[in-house]
Amino acid sequence: MAILLNEEEHFFHLQSTNMSYIIQIENGFPLHAYWGPKLHHNKNLTDLIFCPMGSTIDRLPQEYPQYGSGDFRHPAYQVQLEDGSRVTELVYKSYRMIQGKPSLTGLPAVYVESKMEASTLEIELEDKYTGLTVVLIYTIFEERNVLTRSTKFIHKGSRSIKLRRALSACVDFHRADLEILYLSGAWTREGHLKRRQLEPGSTIIESRRGMSSHQLNPFVAILDQGTTEDTGDAYGFSLVYSGNFVAEAEVDSFQTTRVTIGVNPFDFSWQLEPGEQFQTPEVVMVYSAHGIGGMSRTFHKLYRTRLCRGPHRDKERPILVNNWEATYFDFDADKIQAIAKVAAELGIELFVLDDGWYGTRNDDTSSLGDWVENRKKLPNGLADLANKVKHYGIQFGLWVEPEMVSPDSDLYRKHPDWCIHVKGRRRTEFRTQLVLDLSRKEVRDYLFESLSHIFSTVPISYIKWDMNRALTELGSADLPVERQSETAHRYVLGLYELLERIVTSFPEILFESCSSGGGRFDPGMLYYMPQTWTSDNTDAIERLKIQYGTSVVYPVSSIGAHVSTSPNHQVGRCTPLGTRGDVAMSGNFGYELDLTKFTDAEKEVVKMQVATYKKIRSLVQQGELYRLKSPFEGIETAWMFVSEDQKEALVFYFQVLAEPHGPIKRLKLKGLNRDLDYKIKGQDTIFGGDRLLQIGLPIPELNGDFKSHSFHLTAI
Ligand code: DGJ
Repeated sequence: MAILLNEEEHFFHLQSTNMSYIIQIENGFPLHAYWGPKLHHNKNLTDLIFCPMGSTIDRLPQEYPQYGSGDFRHPAYQVQLEDGSRVTELVYKSYRMIQGKPSLTGLPAVYVESKMEASTLEIELEDKYTGLTVVLIYTIFEERNVLTRSTKFIHKGSRSIKLRRALSACVDFHRADLEILYLSGAWTREGHLKRRQLEPGSTIIESRRGMSSHQLNPFVAILDQGTTEDTGDAYGFSLVYSGNFVAEAEVDSFQTTRVTIGVNPFDFSWQLEPGEQFQTPEVVMVYSAHGIGGMSRTFHKLYRTRLCRGPHRDKERPILVNNWEATYFDFDADKIQAIAKVAAELGIELFVLDDGWYGTRNDDTSSLGDWVENRKKLPNGLADLANKVKHYGIQFGLWVEPEMVSPDSDLYRKHPDWCIHVKGRRRTEFRTQLVLDLSRKEVRDYLFESLSHIFSTVPISYIKWDMNRALTELGSADLPVERQSETAHRYVLGLYELLERIVTSFPEILFESCSSGGGRFDPGMLYYMPQTWTSDNTDAIERLKIQYGTSVVYPVSSIGAHVSTSPNHQVGRCTPLGTRGDVAMSGNFGYELDLTKFTDAEKEVVKMQVATYKKIRSLVQQGELYRLKSPFEGIETAWMFVSEDQKEALVFYFQVLAEPHGPIKRLKLKGLNRDLDYKIKGQDTIFGGDRLLQIGLPIPELNGDFKSHSFHLTAI
């Protein structure tokens, strides 16, 4: 068990191979004593908390701070009582240690495969006046620098209370000379890395859109000022949640930094009746002594192997072609078959039929909710088309957007109250669609039935689960007045329940989540679907930033990346097919264009790309990622993948812009074994690992913008 209790000094010491996290109980309050590199000793640690004489609670580093009794920073929770008061005082009551990691009811979370992988500490706090019990749940992974936290509210009192704020965790860093790193963006510009110095006041990273969002991802890292990609301390917080979230870093007047994270209290409240419980989502906290890169690799391995689930988790992912950018809504069975036939000839393994196959959908103004094939486009039906595609020797996949309804649909005409809405108010449409109220059981049952019917009557190997708008006019026809502010969170809980039913009923299907690209690229969705369509922007150069930033948290096996046509549809840029291939091969590889339009010469290139990816994909999808050159910092980008035994590596180098009289290019590699010699495929020279790490790999000159090289290294 990696949890040590020092009764004399009143602290719990959670310890993994290289990390410690220490909680001290003082005057009944759980205080935050330490998080960082492992402390080997378990005594004389009481002075970790600097607490000058006469200090108020405002100066103490807390684990789960309350509101109303003198700590003026943002609290971790706030409760409103029936008498209108908002003050509570949680006092330490007891603790429990559990070998392993219990799952969270109704919520996605990282898991263990053997109890010995992790230990869990539950600290029970109690507010005597209301009978509210709050359980702080900590799980430390023995061999990873990972701590997960969540909080459970149990109402043991006799009168209803209202949670106005119920965050997952709080960490009070004892200092303020820190920086914050996060992912910002927009539709077609996801995953852009932002880093800035923390200053007195708050930095708030949040979503109020009902989904985790393109704009800000549910992730922040707190960095030492000198932390780089490879060196220095990084403390990552990643919330396993797909709805409104908040992550805040608040620097106070005593030069400390409070980091809080959880469900966004904005437009949120939760009625808790006597006997009821409320479980917050989980936050995954990673400490890295090896910079941002070290933090990323810890997240990657954990998320790839202990968040993603199902039979596809460890399998190599198929190379697919998706018809969206090839045809948009304008296709018929013949066109689809023609693309699928060429795909099979080129070695592609899966054809995905995107939007437009159901109802009367010929553009984005109708039919969402009517999950029945469009017989005008597919006269012999979906199953017949899927069988024809399979006949070419490749698998068949399908796009769905179950969470939505078009006002012009049979479903909406029949059930106009099944969407999220506020009675008497306008129902704001985005892309001519409304959001189904997944907090309602009958809505989820309808979706489960209609999707199950398709999934069990059509030979489907893959599903792209899309979600193309944010939530507005938050309200549910099913909820009583006092529970209306629960709608956004209940939507997410309903979604998770539906996804659990679907993915466990159809375990053989590979699911990819999507939300107009990366609008819901978050750990919550990864629990159900091991891959995500990263962005609707398929331009190779834009993708360098998007994929680089996304990889700061998410494993490469989750990052969907496709070769699309040139000029690119989103930005009009022309790029070589080779570069497009190299960028897409740096993720879950596929194509998203009309393969029938390729010249014979292009087809040869594609055949080669497909054959190459089949050889390298285990390394890309399951290897360790090292980022070498950031697209946010210059005119080159580079990254590499290294096998766990360090005997194989794959390097991608991208010259975004050519420069005159540039320096001789040597790319310093990372992650290799300095004592091994490496041979590069197609070259005669043998390079020592130490030379590649210290001096670098020579990059042959590239003439022109948007060019790339790849290098496949094997140890000899
Ligand atoms: C948004 C997705 O991100 C696209 O890839 C495509 O599936 C469209 N929706 C279809 O409507």
